[in-house]
Amino acid sequence: MHAITKSYKLWEEDLKILKWIDIEIYKGDFLSIMGQSGSGKSTLMNIIGMLDNPTSGNYIFNGQEVSDLTDDDQALIRRAHIGFIFQSYNLLPRTSALNQVIMPLIYQGISKKERTARAIEALKKVGLADKIHNLPSEMSGGQQQRVSIARALVTNPSIILADEPTGALDSKTWVEIMELLTSLNKEGKTVIVITHEQEVDAFARKHIFIRDGNIVNN
Ligand SMILES: Nc1ncnc2c1ncn2[C@@H]1O[C@H](COP(=O)(O)OP(=O)(O)OP(=O)(O)O)[C@@H](O)[C@H]1O
Ligand SMILES: [Mg+2]
Repeated sequence: MHAITKSYKLWEEDLKILKWIDIEIYKGDFLSIMGQSGSGKSTLMNIIGMLDNPTSGNYIFNGQEVSDLTDDDQALIRRAHIGFIFQSYNLLPRTSALNQVIMPLIYQGISKKERTARAIEALKKVGLADKIHNLPSEMSGGQQQRVSIARALVTNPSIILADEPTGALDSKTWVEIMELLTSLNKEGKTVIVITHEQEVDAFARKHIFIRDGNIVNN
């Protein structure tokens, strides 16, 4: 990313959230993004994950200028390469854990039997083998977070974007989740994690800090 900015129009004013972001992220990186609440971390992550477009600047993904891609092309890249773990989980309220995790596989043209097997596998990996039929309202916050992690992993993405994946978890569970992300990184996946916690940050091998819409101590 070079000179990435993001502004929101609020009433007639331009609210500048990201002012100048220059970052290079390489395959296999384990990167943490820290910064105060409201500093623009989730905004940046949404741009990295092509869920949102920057106001200006260049974002080159695998050699492709992202602003030259159509929304459909961006969606295809997203589905093929990126797993998201959202700050707010983004689970569907009336859908079982199993079906939430199956969902991203539906676009991938694999059989129902294999979709189910892979979703169960992903749920086991995050320690939810006994909750596969539960609805979000029948699970704790940490368990819901783990469903969202299973959903991010099930497509076997090369990049994992995690927005405070440990926010709702107790200390034992968050260590497990960070160890899981570490082992995925060791398999060669690129992991980008937003966090407020120094202990979580310590798992990463590269660190960036956002302040006032700029990157400091890159
Ligand atoms: N759609 C929007 N319209 C207007 N302002 C927005 C919009 N989305 C985000 N913002 C503002 O952008 C700023 C950055 O938000 P963002 O969610 O990126 O912060 P964050 O660093 O992730 O914070 P937190 O640690 O609390 O999650 C905030 O001040 C927020 O109010
Ligand atoms: Mg955020």
